[in-house]
Amino acid sequence: MNQVDYLRISLIDRCNFRCLYCMPEDAELDYILRQDLLRNEELMTLLKEVFIPVGFRKFRLTGGEPLIRPDVVNLVHQIATLKETQDLSLTTNGYLLENMAEDLYKAGLRRVNISLDSLNWETFDHIIGNHGRSRWEKTWRGIEQAYRVGFDPLKLNVVVIPGVNDHEVEDLAALTIERNWHVRFIEFMPIGNSNLFGDRQWIPSEELRQRIRNKWGLEEGKVKGNGPADIFQIRGAKGTLGFISQMSECFCDRCNRMRLSADGWLRPCLLNETSQIDLKTALRNNISLDELRHKVQFLLQLKPEINYKLRDSGTTTGTYTRTMSQIGG
Ligand code: GTP
Ligand code: 5AD
Ligand code: SF4
Repeated sequence: MNQVDYLRISLIDRCNFRCLYCMPEDAELDYILRQDLLRNEELMTLLKEVFIPVGFRKFRLTGGEPLIRPDVVNLVHQIATLKETQDLSLTTNGYLLENMAEDLYKAGLRRVNISLDSLNWETFDHIIGNHGRSRWEKTWRGIEQAYRVGFDPLKLNVVVIPGVNDHEVEDLAALTIERNWHVRFIEFMPIGNSNLFGDRQWIPSEELRQRIRNKWGLEEGKVKGNGPADIFQIRGAKGTLGFISQMSECFCDRCNRMRLSADGWLRPCLLNETSQIDLKTALRNNISLDELRHKVQFLLQLKPEINYKLRDSGTTTGTYTRTMSQIGG
């Protein structure tokens, strides 16, 4: 059985973008109220007194957009300096990195995953919700700044959307030839918005690989990384290509993670809405830390049963209502 030692921590459910696949335009979003967000000191208590004692060692900060949370640099510093932390990373849309990358690095963050769905500003802008050309430019500067500052590995996440950005796959893959960047193609998950892109919602990774193979040549020999991505490489390239194929090739069996939402709900699986527990209310009601540890331990034991098989889970038939930004991608 996999060791579950990786916690994805959503810092906020709001975002400065509104990506089609994550916060669909027509979705009514009930944002978490400020007083319901887990405060920094509550989060640190949960990490130190609950998650670390039951075995969690790897932490990823997500959102919404984690960098819009005030005091995120300070939080990074606090988590990075815990002696038990083996890995701390952050998933961001990159828009604020231009100004924040250096401070985040100094605070102890070493790796970031940045979303970049297109090299064309108009396509990018269509995906993120029509803010104008400067958004792409600032995001790109954010990526370059993260590279300059020394984040390693630097991963770029591309959610491939048929008919929107899939024609750019070869060009996006080519970013890895001269740069030590890791470009990952993600099969779109129809979460919270099941019919967004009509009948053909996602493209199997193998189809993308075939296209890249034809254009650039691919080193064969798939490597399984620590996370959900299968790793490949263009022959002679400095960086790598990752494929996150939760729709065509479910990786739930090797799942090593749980999720903590910005309002303190612990969710054993991305898609599970029934077994989650409300750690924030428990903490604010002064439930003993020992009892909280037991609750988390209990959920850890249940996790193998709870892990969803994405394609069979009902997600694809639209029974899920929460968006990725609310769950914490
Ligand atoms: P590392 O491999 O540690 O760098 O991170 P990661 O790839 O797990 O994290 P990232 O936040 O960059 O997520 C990349 C994609 O994987 C996103 O589309 C996530 O929603 C998806 N993903 C991450 N965790 C899970 C999971 O538990 N289940 C599923 N189905 N998808 C996940
Ligand atoms: N399907 C696949 N990936 C998604 N992300 C957000 N929504 C979806 C979805 N519906 C990705 C973002 C980000 C990561 C945290 O999750 O692009 O890179
Ligand atoms: Fe925001 Fe990221 Fe969701 Fe896009 S994918 S709306 S950038 S949280």
